[in-house]
Amino acid sequence: MVGPEHASVSAFRSCEGDSTMHSAPTWDPEQYLRHAGHRTRPFLDMLARIPTLPAAGRPARIADIGCGPGNVTALLADRWPDAHITGFDLSPEMLAQAEKEHAGTTAGGGWLDFRPADAAHWTPDETYDLIVSNAALQWVPNHPESFAVWLDGLAPGGTLAFQVPGNFTSPSHALLGELCETPQWRARLGDHGRRYVHILEPADYLTRLADLGCDADAWETTYLQLLGGEDPVLDWVKGTALRPVLTELADDPAAQEEFLAQYRDLLRKAYPPGPHGTVFPFRRIFAVARKVS
Ligand SMILES: C[S@@+](CC[C@H](N)C(=O)[O-])C[C@H]1O[C@@H](n2cnc3c(N)ncnc32)[C@H](O)[C@@H]1O
Repeated sequence: MVGPEHASVSAFRSCEGDSTMHSAPTWDPEQYLRHAGHRTRPFLDMLARIPTLPAAGRPARIADIGCGPGNVTALLADRWPDAHITGFDLSPEMLAQAEKEHAGTTAGGGWLDFRPADAAHWTPDETYDLIVSNAALQWVPNHPESFAVWLDGLAPGGTLAFQVPGNFTSPSHALLGELCETPQWRARLGDHGRRYVHILEPADYLTRLADLGCDADAWETTYLQLLGGEDPVLDWVKGTALRPVLTELADDPAAQEEFLAQYRDLLRKAYPPGPHGTVFPFRRIFAVARKVS
């Protein structure tokens, strides 16, 4: 565990997966990318807060932990055109998509590649100017314990920057957790429907990173995402929070359909459509820490 401030957040159980307690869920890049616009915005907001990298007179070296389908990894090349950027991820499905769509020489003469890695055990294999992670560390137990070793792998003046969802007590996740704990689904999903949430509050990230000697900045934003179509919140979580349940029920389509129908009914009440679409508020937590030279 990572400390007392973590415990209050981690006491909430949801149905999401846990790379340590259970096998990792199967990801579906196509489903995930259906909401790419809303999912990319926090990454762009974080990118805007990353200071100049120390790589003067040489291409920057950048790591993206939990890179997913690689579309946000590729955005790093817009800001650092000649950089060598490596995306690391646990999911073969996500890595295959990233490789297919984004690997190779970038428009600015840089290089983008992707490698398998479990963030829970990843240590920098060379010196980086930037280590970044977007919407991935919530899947990684004890990730704050890795900050020191990740900072060790940064050049002086380099930056560690990440964003994690901070919405684990919102109706979308609370209802999913409650449904998993009903006798019917508890019996069917067992512990595969359980997960301790592994995020800290922004102030705790700030303190930890400042304690490690960084110029640290942390903040939170709640995005009022306006989603279109029928059952858009269900469609959203099918790409992320529902992955462990969908993975566990993958060999039983009837059970999967029944679970989705029950969850859909709960979500319809919690997120009724309005005149302009369905508002799906989404809190996100950010931290940007510059290693002091
Ligand atoms: C919600 S997606 C985010 C993808 C991408 N960073 C983005 O912003 O679009 C979470 C990603 O974290 C990856 N992931 C989860 N646990 C991981 C771990 N322990 N090590 C590496 N990647 C992990 C998943 O495979 C998935 O691709």
